[in-house]
Amino acid sequence: MNKLIVTSLICSLSLASFAQNSYNIVPKPVKLKAQQGKFVFNSDTRIVVPEETIDLQNALFALQERFLLTKVWHLKIEKATENMKPADNTIFIKFNPAMTNQEAYKLRILKTRIEIEAGAAPGVFYAMQTLRQLLPPEIERNQTPPATLELSVPCAEIEDTPRYAYRGILLDVCRHFSNVRDVKHYINMLAFHKINTFHWHLTDDQGWRIEIKKYPKLAEISAWRDRTLIGSYTETGRKYEQRRYGGYYTQEEIKEVVAYAKTKFITVIPEIELPGHAMAALAAYPEFSCTGGPFEVSGLWGIFNDVYCPKDITFQFWEDVLSEVISLFPSKYIHIGGDECPKVRWERCHHCQTKMKELGLKDEHALQSYVISRIEKFVSSKGRSIIGWDEILEGGLADNATVMSWRGLEGGIAAARQGHDVIMTPTSFCYLDYYQSEDKKSEPLAIGGFLPLEKVYSFDPTPAQLTTEEAKHILGGQANLWTEYIPTRTGVEYMLFPRMAALSEAVWTNKEGKNFDDFKNRLKNGTVKHYDALDVTYSKSNLK
Ligand code: ACM
Ligand code: ZN
Repeated sequence: MNKLIVTSLICSLSLASFAQNSYNIVPKPVKLKAQQGKFVFNSDTRIVVPEETIDLQNALFALQERFLLTKVWHLKIEKATENMKPADNTIFIKFNPAMTNQEAYKLRILKTRIEIEAGAAPGVFYAMQTLRQLLPPEIERNQTPPATLELSVPCAEIEDTPRYAYRGILLDVCRHFSNVRDVKHYINMLAFHKINTFHWHLTDDQGWRIEIKKYPKLAEISAWRDRTLIGSYTETGRKYEQRRYGGYYTQEEIKEVVAYAKTKFITVIPEIELPGHAMAALAAYPEFSCTGGPFEVSGLWGIFNDVYCPKDITFQFWEDVLSEVISLFPSKYIHIGGDECPKVRWERCHHCQTKMKELGLKDEHALQSYVISRIEKFVSSKGRSIIGWDEILEGGLADNATVMSWRGLEGGIAAARQGHDVIMTPTSFCYLDYYQSEDKKSEPLAIGGFLPLEKVYSFDPTPAQLTTEEAKHILGGQANLWTEYIPTRTGVEYMLFPRMAALSEAVWTNKEGKNFDDFKNRLKNGTVKHYDALDVTYSKSNLK
């Protein structure tokens, strides 16, 4: 090749890359019209708002905070004057009552200004997250970037609205505990991915993590275990680390997290497990069991035969606990567990058998169904609704229960056909405790399974066999992170990211708009650079 051709090739290549803005937004917006040019922020850029509510201030803070933490400059907020037209060098925000989905937004990035339209503050918040993703990743660092770094976003017209109203992530803080600071950090990351629900798994066999004033032994005894399994559950000759391990959130801390999540437009749904996964509670209050104990807070993973005995004092306990929980969490939903409850104790328990006869129940599944229905009525009497794992279908589904379908899609399909609302979280697409690579030796020890990025990405919460009417019951999807094998924050991050990004697109973006290769490009060229700048650990196993 002669020199002239080489030069002109280089020229056209660089021209092409200059002309082509990149839009590495995850989850992918429903509509994006790329345009020439860019909007460049400077120290005079202001945000103009139609009103000065706390919600709107919180929404704007998603972007303002980035400028504050990098100490670049302050994006000032100014209230619009009457009939004010969008002014130059502003982010001009307008509420449009015709936009009925509160999470939807329109974002016009012009060379001279940015215009945002939304029906309410959540839409503005998501527009801010989109702007954040379009800015250079240096905006995420808590340090000032070089003065030469241009803080600009490429011109575009974006219209965006989520496919599902429920977009969740579960974190298990029982098997391994996360402190408040780390929980807030995960909440920040949920917001970055436009996830709107944090399912906080607060009680299990290995630890009870929420202070309940009426039952102080839950914090004194149930929150602590004396030993923890070392290595895999499946290894023979189990060994334990003999160290007291645990922790719990005080009610003040719970309130702090719930309030913090609200500023990120995230609802926190607490999960209080019943009637199974009860070892930690029973260690402190063995009188709520069938046998009377004694029990210990488990240092081993798995499913335990000792579960709550549904006698009157146990119902009183559950109702007292749920009353305190309901006073701490404003969420519409309270998750009451319902999964993995063996019936062997109930089969031999005088109390359980007498109760079944009294109530004319044909088997122990019907007894579980009675438990869930009674709790459902109690929670409803407080103006809330229950969610339960799909086992709550067995023996008959309680009125008004929402089913979280984890053992596949089938439970969700059955529930939707019975007219119940459903959240899909099947193990095969949504269990982030599974390995990210088939070469398990190259990965940190995990519970098993194999769930690569592409599989999470392909998750479709609405099964094709549902009719349009039935499909309306699918509220959305969720990914779950159980932490048996994940003791640290970096470990949690490694399992969450980048699979959370794939989940976010599966629950936000229209099916027609999804394409894995395109997603992976946006992830590699955009999202993970933001992770890097945020100092977030992530797996590279599926990024080659
Ligand atoms: C579950 O994974 N047991 C809900
Ligand atoms: Zn019993």
